[in-house]
Amino acid sequence: MRTIDFLEQGDGAITLIDQRLLPHEKKILTIKTHQELIEAIQTLAVRGAPALGVAGALGVALIALRSQQQGWSQVEIDSAISALRAARPTAVNLAWGVDQVTPELVNGPSSVLKSALAISRADGLANRAMGKLGAAYLLDKCGERKLRILTHCNTGSLATSDWGTALGVIRELSEQGYIEEVFADETRPLLQGSRLTAWELSEAGIKYRILPDGAAASALFSGLIDAVLIGADRIARNGDSANKIGSLGVAVAAKESGIPFLVVAPESTIDRSLASGAEIEIEFRADSEVTHFAGNAVAPLGAKSYNPAFDVTLARYITAIVTEKCVYNLGAGVEI
Ligand code: MRU
Repeated sequence: MRTIDFLEQGDGAITLIDQRLLPHEKKILTIKTHQELIEAIQTLAVRGAPALGVAGALGVALIALRSQQQGWSQVEIDSAISALRAARPTAVNLAWGVDQVTPELVNGPSSVLKSALAISRADGLANRAMGKLGAAYLLDKCGERKLRILTHCNTGSLATSDWGTALGVIRELSEQGYIEEVFADETRPLLQGSRLTAWELSEAGIKYRILPDGAAASALFSGLIDAVLIGADRIARNGDSANKIGSLGVAVAAKESGIPFLVVAPESTIDRSLASGAEIEIEFRADSEVTHFAGNAVAPLGAKSYNPAFDVTLARYITAIVTEKCVYNLGAGVEI
């Protein structure tokens, strides 16, 4: 089952694995309207930058179909597309996916769908290419030996169209026999690490341990980790990379302890319109994600939170950025 796909039978619908319920329940959501898709995106039923790119593109296909079936006006079509495009602000892939296929609207729903499915296929191929490039780079840097890799959030099959970005490099290394163990940050507050990455690693038979986000720095300083691999939601021209909250702290600790810190992401995550990460819009989420745990209040009633969903890792803390095209080595004044 693909993380996100399109069901052409009947009235047409988007199908996706409901990531809010994993790992204990595997349920497929059938999305029939763009409003349902926006809700699925905002509540993280579907998430991860490349998967959001595919969701954006398939969402436009759904809008094209419904507008034809229900005779929408151009204003209704435009407003549905803008709402979808803005459903979450940080991952550039969502708006990118929408923009890639919107020009096909004039050719009808099946042209939009064809383009959207091509984006999904290309993302899958990109996963494999960056997996190979990242694995080769790391083995060159660390030497050909079994590696202990720390990762943050979820960058695997659930976040992409095939086997992942940073997690794709881990899968490639594992297939080549070069993984000793993966340290998966639990990824507070929504636990993408312990719920999703750990699930993918256990399904793949890759040895792993979950650590609280707060233990990452001490693991790095204790000599337990050979390299850090993370994904990205938006990368600026100078290499500054937005990713799940907590990534910045891991990067600073990795730099201080002399451990390679790689960002692995498709070219579509690079936003060359932005000179630096200071221009990246960061999504802030509800207090309840921090004040409650699994629906139960854990903080005093009415407690407020500081709950950014992402942070920006400055290029100076990043050893290299791996895409499907190449490995960008970062440095002062370098533009990617
Ligand atoms: O809030 P999320 O779960 O969508 O955040 C996802 C991340 O930060 C991922 O690391 C990033 O999108 C890369 S996914 C290959």
